[in-house]
Amino acid sequence: MSSPLTQLASWKKLQAHQQEFDQKDLKQLFFEDSSRGRKMTIEAAGLFLDFSKNRITEETIDLLLELAKETGLRERIEAMFCGDKINISENRAALHVALRAPQGEKIIVDGENVVPKVHAVLDQMAHFSNRIRSGEWKGHTGKRIKNIVNIGIGGSDLGPVMAYEALRYYSDRSMNFRFISNVDATDFVEATRDLDPSETLFIVSSKTFGTLETLTNAYSARDWLLAGFGGDPKAIAKHFVAVSTNTQKVAAFGIDTENMFGFWDWVGGRYSMDSAIGLSLMVAIGPDHFQEMLAGFHAMDEHFRTAPFERNLPVLMGLLAIWYNNFFGAQTIAVLPYDQYLKRFPAYLQQLTMESNGKHVTLEGTCVSSQTGPIYWGEPGTNGQHSFYQLIHQGTRLIPCDFITFYQGLNPLGRHHDLLVSNVFAQAEALAFGKTPEQVRAEGTSEALIPHRVFEGNRPSNVILAQSLTPRALGTLVALYEHNVFTQGAIWGIDSFDQWGVELGKVLAQKIIPELENPAEPKLEHDSSTNNLIKLYREKKSKTI
Ligand code: F6P
Repeated sequence: MSSPLTQLASWKKLQAHQQEFDQKDLKQLFFEDSSRGRKMTIEAAGLFLDFSKNRITEETIDLLLELAKETGLRERIEAMFCGDKINISENRAALHVALRAPQGEKIIVDGENVVPKVHAVLDQMAHFSNRIRSGEWKGHTGKRIKNIVNIGIGGSDLGPVMAYEALRYYSDRSMNFRFISNVDATDFVEATRDLDPSETLFIVSSKTFGTLETLTNAYSARDWLLAGFGGDPKAIAKHFVAVSTNTQKVAAFGIDTENMFGFWDWVGGRYSMDSAIGLSLMVAIGPDHFQEMLAGFHAMDEHFRTAPFERNLPVLMGLLAIWYNNFFGAQTIAVLPYDQYLKRFPAYLQQLTMESNGKHVTLEGTCVSSQTGPIYWGEPGTNGQHSFYQLIHQGTRLIPCDFITFYQGLNPLGRHHDLLVSNVFAQAEALAFGKTPEQVRAEGTSEALIPHRVFEGNRPSNVILAQSLTPRALGTLVALYEHNVFTQGAIWGIDSFDQWGVELGKVLAQKIIPELENPAEPKLEHDSSTNNLIKLYREKKSKTI
């Protein structure tokens, strides 16, 4: 068994090195090297990263690179790209990079080149999308489909809805796109209340086709649709398609498997938005834009695989996350997109980062020796500035921030874009350099108020810039975070591709469902709190209000 991470020479050196930052703040680091702001930047695959406002020196980078070497990051990357079964607890490859591999490439899984299969599904998706978009695909009564409703949850929802919102600018505005995920009926009812069944197509997206929320919503959708067609089951064929890896379950639900779009067990749910799970997105933006997005993903994949680590965007961002998480005790990372179209990006990242790296055992099954996955969260700027930024600027916690913005906005309107971007630069500057008591005093502030108005500064951030929010830029951005997450997981030596932590709650819910629904009083054998909650709910649920 390999020695614990915290015993590695590079880890120990990083621990000692971290102490130096008690004396050195960002202001001093910038003072010592006036070219820092230009030097500590990288441009790759159309993304520009300024990482100069981090609590690092060149030595920090060297030590982090030593850690990457000692933990075998390069070998882990190769193993992923080669289709090795790196998801060891599920004995599967994690080959989302194959989803965007250009035609002609070879990626072998279990002796088979998977790239032609990927392209066959992409062609099937493109054919279907074109038929819907052109009106050639008609509903049961011959009407054009105007409403697309994706039913899915987790990776079968967050990716499609995030990307649809992100690329809405490119979408067909004559159509409506809705996303239903929650088992709370409100989600279904509100999403369908103004829709005409004869113009509506449901895409049931589920890797397993066994997820409680998705199947419950899919059955409600079927009832809703059939009610609109006087119960005629023939209507299903024109109004339901499925995206899944499970043909049998799709057929059992009653969807013609001719209308099924497949993918494979080596695509993790949270890594699936560029597989057939992105079907609703492809209908919205069209196959060409979808292809552009895939090209963006691929460009970042190539960069991640081939660029030297010191010039490698995802590797550097992953190492910086490790630096703050493991050596400064930072518990969270805020992702702050300054683009309204990216409003669901932080929510999407929550699953990507936390379902991937929220693990407490290593690949060998022993307890990890350090903290693992940080909590990712965020909101689009500038809204966040008027809510939680107070804590980031003046609170007691260290919260590294990723600011994301674009040189050009997609909706030029007066001064809006300059005002938006000025806020990104200003926030990063304020976080890094703060405001001293002397500066506050010089403004004429009374002595009593000075402590309240001081900004300590020395708070780290990255600034990520791209030309504009194109499908390609979105692809590179998502791949950047996918590989950033991979880098972190590889350093911790954990399985970033399983998600056993979601199972226990699912199993317990299955036991509790009949205890809530059964007309006869059930024999409850939970703890006293759960028993009491179930009794209370049974008592109150039928009360007239
Ligand atoms: O939340 C657990 C999970 O398995 C996710 O990993 C996945 O994205 C989601 O449920 C949905 O699963 P499925 O696509 O199989 O319905």
